[in-house]
Amino acid sequence: MTAAPRPAASLPLGGVDLSCRFGPLTLPHPVMTASGCFAYGQKFAPFMDLRQLAGLSTKGISPRPRPGNPLPRICETAAGMLNSIGLENVGAEAFLSEKLPFLADLGVSVWVNFFGEDADEYVQCARMLDAGHQRGIDVLEMNISCPNIKKGGIEFGTVPEVAHALTKRCVEATRIPIVVKLSPNAADLPAMAQAVADAGAMGVSLINTITGMAIDVRTRRPRLATTYGGLSGAAIKPIALRMIHQVHRAVPELPICGMGGVGSGEDALELLMAGASCVQVGTANFARPGGALEIRDELRALMAELGIARVAEVIGCVEPLPPEPAWAPAPPDAEASR
Ligand code: SIN
Repeated sequence: MTAAPRPAASLPLGGVDLSCRFGPLTLPHPVMTASGCFAYGQKFAPFMDLRQLAGLSTKGISPRPRPGNPLPRICETAAGMLNSIGLENVGAEAFLSEKLPFLADLGVSVWVNFFGEDADEYVQCARMLDAGHQRGIDVLEMNISCPNIKKGGIEFGTVPEVAHALTKRCVEATRIPIVVKLSPNAADLPAMAQAVADAGAMGVSLINTITGMAIDVRTRRPRLATTYGGLSGAAIKPIALRMIHQVHRAVPELPICGMGGVGSGEDALELLMAGASCVQVGTANFARPGGALEIRDELRALMAELGIARVAEVIGCVEPLPPEPAWAPAPPDAEASR
């Protein structure tokens, strides 16, 4: 499938300039699509003009293809979704030859999510994907946060020293900037962010899913073949906000790509105000396959309504509530005169 012709650069609408920066990257607006929720892009072409996205992050790529976990591996929950895909992907070689040309042709920011089952595989994958340098890959999004595989992923996502060493090796293995997708399971997320920044990461993505479970009470069995999976969607937005806020306050110079329950322009604005420089839409794509661009339009309309002219004005702008005046009992005279 080939992509439609790129539209002319759009002028700020409604007095709002949605363009923004993520480290050295300039994006036309802050709304991307998230890894694992947008495959390799092509499947969403019937639903939206992909060229209008700020960018997209691919399904996680490993050095060799992976079949993923047994079915069922997705299940809807009251306010989100559980998944245990198991990092199914076509592998780095097939990605570069079969998927990247389509993505490169879109002219949007292409982030390739990648991982390995051990440190050497991470480095190998970064090295293989380096072939996409100046061939369309803008960022390698290093996933150290997948909850669904027995080896790799999560093991690197919780110990700052381990994350630092792995990031450093991957940064040295490629000319493409690395953004590290951190695990919400880390006990000290600011320490993790600082560790990967010190190792040369250009930024961080947060948050990935949070481990959960669903049970079919009729069969008395879990709804996922692997029993546990990663919870995403509206249910995790407050957790994402808290974590983005904490990391932004601790490491303010480190760009954050925020994700976790972004389903509206207002959700996107909340993540920006918490400290994200751009956002990724994930689970919402399953219900509204063209939703990311609607979210961009909602964000623009909301910014116009609130008198916000530029995205940079709001990144990390949230202030604590002012202290409430202390409660004091009404004076006795006032009581008596009622
Ligand atoms: C999966 O493929 O199991 C999900 C990937 C992730 O959560 O990082």
